[in-house]
Amino acid sequence: MAMCAALRCVSAALPLLTRPAPIRTCQNSLRPNILRTLYTSSRLSGALKFTDKHEWVRVEGTVGTVGISNFAQEALGDVVYCGLPEVGTKLEQMEEFGALESVKAASELYSPLTGEVTEINTNLTDNPGLVNKACYEDGWLIKMTIEKPAELDELMDEAAYEKFIKSLDS
Ligand SMILES: *[C@@H]1O[C@H](CO)[C@@H](O)[C@H](O)[C@H]1NC(C)=O
Repeated sequence: MAMCAALRCVSAALPLLTRPAPIRTCQNSLRPNILRTLYTSSRLSGALKFTDKHEWVRVEGTVGTVGISNFAQEALGDVVYCGLPEVGTKLEQMEEFGALESVKAASELYSPLTGEVTEINTNLTDNPGLVNKACYEDGWLIKMTIEKPAELDELMDEAAYEKFIKSLDS
């Protein structure tokens, strides 16, 4: 049962993925450990929180920056097009807000939180490959307000997410 559920999740998020990509962290993506020890609450800090659809959100003040995980960008391959919402779009948690297309697949994007889109990463129009090169930094997708901060508590921290993608392997 558990395996079925996990497989459904992968195929929904990454339709053409046949086997899980190796787990590796984005180059230039790891925030120095010292930063992590300076903060305890992800609501204030800038620590990454992950969804089971492989999006991440980083909270800075009242705004969350959203992108896809390294696992997702590797599974997708070279991104050639980013379909992103307009600024002002209101999103519910887990609502579809766009899609990424790579040379071999397309993948829908799901909002990690309820809120309103305040900014989109316009650099992706000319350079969608930023999602592959720096998925946790320059390859971010949208910024959004955080209407329901409690939703952050439902998301996975980095350790839980790593365990989650390992569970997809087996
Ligand atoms: C776009 O790229 C430029 C140059 O790397 C950078 O200075 C700017 O902050 C980027 N803009 C966004 C929206 O990320």
